[in-house]
Amino acid sequence: MAFLKYKTELFTGIRPTADLTIANYLGAILPIVKLQDKSKSNLVFIADLHAITDNEPKVIKQYIQNTLVDYLALGIDPQKTKIYLQSEIGKELSFFAFLLSRHVTVAELLRLPTLKEKIKQKLKKNLKNLKPENANTFLFLYPVLMAGDILINQAKKVPVGEDQLPHLELTRLIARRFNKKYGPLFPLPQTLEIKKIRILSLKGKEKMSKSLPEGAIFLNDDLKTVAQKIKSAQTAFEGEMTDNLKSCILIAKNLAKTKKETELIDQIIKDHLSGKKVMKEFKEILTKIVQNFLAEFQEKKQKILKEKDYLSFILTEGNKIARENALETLEAMKKVIHF
Ligand code: TRP
Repeated sequence: MAFLKYKTELFTGIRPTADLTIANYLGAILPIVKLQDKSKSNLVFIADLHAITDNEPKVIKQYIQNTLVDYLALGIDPQKTKIYLQSEIGKELSFFAFLLSRHVTVAELLRLPTLKEKIKQKLKKNLKNLKPENANTFLFLYPVLMAGDILINQAKKVPVGEDQLPHLELTRLIARRFNKKYGPLFPLPQTLEIKKIRILSLKGKEKMSKSLPEGAIFLNDDLKTVAQKIKSAQTAFEGEMTDNLKSCILIAKNLAKTKKETELIDQIIKDHLSGKKVMKEFKEILTKIVQNFLAEFQEKKQKILKEKDYLSFILTEGNKIARENALETLEAMKKVIHF
């Protein structure tokens, strides 16, 4: 047997678990939108199986369509990037991941910082139980399932944020071990680290996230709410630069649509640093930029939501590709191990 050929140039998964914020957009989605222009066979999937490691399926179900529509409205182009739903290849994938799990030890999975971090988040209230051993077994196997996603689709480049790097390393380790034992089969996936833009909460030093809703701008926030949130955002005294102001500047500059807006921001910040009192002007332009962005997004989203046939066509198309990939890889693997 020879190495399988890379089938998917760019491959990544999205957990359908939350209402998105502009930090999610700027940090995770925009980079993928930009990358999709550079390669031909891109595949993105909605990781509903990964999402039920620590959420009820009933809850996740509600987020699946919403996630799909959000990503389309934010610029994932179904001409360039096919989208599938993970559970549509659930049988093939879980069997495949099961066979992969033979090549990784319990100790290796327990060592993963991602598992420890998850447990910490979950058990914040009950610190005595803060042990990876107390994770449910599906959460424990999360990284093996992820290796399954990547290898079953014969993915070449996998763009992920920093927190997911250990999972990519594990995927490569499993592939290498398998190839060493049975001869070449899995082409090694490459990690494409997305340097996340760090957006802070509008109120304080924490990252912007849905767990601090008053400091977060959600993509579905109405425009009035957004104006109020920005009005009470922390910035800086005249002549000073703070992390919060920096973060607001990043938001403004990354969402700005015109050169004029960008130049205006630069000018205001210059004035600010020279000691002028201009934070009111800054917040006004920031509000305008964010509102324009959200209005456009929300309008697109409403339009797409109405096109049910189009939405199901997109998933059908993506699911078909994923199924072909899955069957091919699984067959090849079974052949190699004589199973
Ligand atoms: N674990 C990823 C996250 O939490 C999502 C994911 C699942 C993924 N399977 C993947 C990402 C495969 C890239 C490739 O963000």
